[in-house]
Amino acid sequence: MNILITGGAGFVCSHLADKLYEKKHNLFLLDNLLTGNKRNIDHLLGNENVRFIEHDVQNHIEISDEIDFIFHFASAASPIAYQENPINTLKAGSIGTINTLGLAKVKKADYLLASTSEIYGDPEVSPQSENYWGNVNPNGERSMYDEAKRFAEAATATYSRTYSLNTKVVRIFNTYGPRMQLNDGRVVTNFIVQALNNENITVYGDGLQTRSFSYVDDTVGGIIALMESDHNDVFNIGNPNEITVNELATRIISLTNSNSKLINKDLPKDDPKQRRPDITKAKNLLKWEPKIELEVGLTKTIDWVNSQL
Ligand SMILES: NC(=O)c1ccc[n+]([C@@H]2O[C@H](COP(=O)([O-])OP(=O)(O)OC[C@H]3O[C@@H](n4cnc5c(N)ncnc54)[C@H](O)[C@@H]3O)[C@@H](O)[C@H]2O)c1
Repeated sequence: MNILITGGAGFVCSHLADKLYEKKHNLFLLDNLLTGNKRNIDHLLGNENVRFIEHDVQNHIEISDEIDFIFHFASAASPIAYQENPINTLKAGSIGTINTLGLAKVKKADYLLASTSEIYGDPEVSPQSENYWGNVNPNGERSMYDEAKRFAEAATATYSRTYSLNTKVVRIFNTYGPRMQLNDGRVVTNFIVQALNNENITVYGDGLQTRSFSYVDDTVGGIIALMESDHNDVFNIGNPNEITVNELATRIISLTNSNSKLINKDLPKDDPKQRRPDITKAKNLLKWEPKIELEVGLTKTIDWVNSQL
């Protein structure tokens, strides 16, 4: 297939591109390099069936080749990155989604949108299943991301109903692994960098808030399972094993043999207290579930971060 991936030079998409390349698809990797980096896909570029297009999804997208499948993943993704680029984030989720859906309509391509667990906001139920509608602050400090993604889901559903497009939505939960940016404030890389440098580990709040972390190979496995399925629907993809932020810090200190100590800082606004996916739907319909233990994924990520320092 000819496959367009927006956000193609980013963390998750570079791994997605690796897997799709192994499957012999032709790839068009589109990215404005806002938070991504060509280094992530250097090893793929230079192959004749991989093309890089430097472009911002908020602008009209013109591709002369046939396109069979579109992944729309372009968006700043970490709180630091989207708060530093708030207008681009709003536009990537809104105008960028309309532009890529328009392209899917013209090319008669199937479409997969990267949504996020953030559309559940600070959830009142745990774990969150796909039929929970969320608890989002529409004008809070994360709303440029959360609400843009909610709009993106609405746009995808509307184009699907109006133009009979085949569309799929993946709500990705916290994913980690090699090729994450080291300075964008995400908790796993923050803690690993601090532990490797024997610096204090900064825990926001009391550290009793919980998170669940999916290793990138598992997340990408779920995305490809959805792509290859007949289901044109919304799926949570993530790892339901929940741990507290304090526990995560302690495990990273032990895996890195670090002397770091935990220190507490004020919790950022609208930081969710708990996030945990209900993945029953993906298990039943996509026959997918995460396989990689936290220790294994953390060890691979630590090795990679170490190689970057
Ligand atoms: N990593 C996670 O834990 C996670 C969780 C939930 C959702 N997601 C979603 O997955 C997608 C990828 O996230 P990631 O973690 O790989 O982040 P990332 O920042 O590494 O990747 C995003 C990519 O999109 C590009 N981009 C941003 N704005 C763009 C624009 N306007 N036009 C073109 N390209 C643009 C960036 O340069 C980057 O390469 C995002 O849509 C994100 O919302 C990720």
